[in-house]
Amino acid sequence: MIGVFDSGVGGLSVLRAIRALMPAEPVIYLADQAHVPYGPRPLEEVRGFSQSIARFLIAQGARVIVVACNTASAAALFHLRQTFPETPFVGMEPAVKPAAETTQSGVVGVLATPATFQGALYASVVERFAQGVTLLQDTCAGLVQQIEAGNLAGEETRRILENALLPMLARGMDTVVMGCTHYPFVIPLIQQIVGEQVRVIDPAPAVARQTRRVLEAHGWLVEGNQPAPVRFLTTGDGEAFRRMIRQLLGELFPDPQVEVIQWDE
Ligand code: SIN
Repeated sequence: MIGVFDSGVGGLSVLRAIRALMPAEPVIYLADQAHVPYGPRPLEEVRGFSQSIARFLIAQGARVIVVACNTASAAALFHLRQTFPETPFVGMEPAVKPAAETTQSGVVGVLATPATFQGALYASVVERFAQGVTLLQDTCAGLVQQIEAGNLAGEETRRILENALLPMLARGMDTVVMGCTHYPFVIPLIQQIVGEQVRVIDPAPAVARQTRRVLEAHGWLVEGNQPAPVRFLTTGDGEAFRRMIRQLLGELFPDPQVEVIQWDE
């Protein structure tokens, strides 16, 4: 069983890719909506949340954990691997490498949270893969909250995205990286704003492929096309989460059951 967690609904973009690649693999998905958004929080605090969640998911039977949140990956991936050495962790890394490899203009936009930009993971990716490329960054303040509320194409969402993307476009950006797992849910609007000629990179399929490789390497992969059960849990409002799963992934999960959990931090 794969454990997947995020601050909220963003990791559902990763779950979608996991489901497309490994439908028979059971999944437990935890949304830490009592604490969303993670992005503006100190890295140590997000690290603490991530450790509690990982411990919980392992106790529920998760063998591999996908940290389906760029902020939690930036804050905690290294520490999670140290604390739980028996459990393989797959994290999110801003997809700067594929962007740098394919940009024609040499100008790449990255949309991510402040915590992701501050983390050592981002610095290391930039150092290793973005030499000679101009990276334009924006934190899209407020966008995670809009997506959590299901506002994928409204006025405020458009305003945030136009403020971020139009200046990047004016500087010659031809590729934009989704550095937060929430943002793939607004790719249709992003593509409207930047035009079809700009490449938008969602790292979720690559993360799903990596998860599959890890499962295979351990002999744990459940093969087949018969969809396995997915358990959905939230630390927040169960009914609101259920509505969002239906809005975002209704074709895959038309009638999701949501468990509400709480624990002492
Ligand atoms: C957030 O909770 O701020 C979004 C987390 C992320 O994917 O970076």
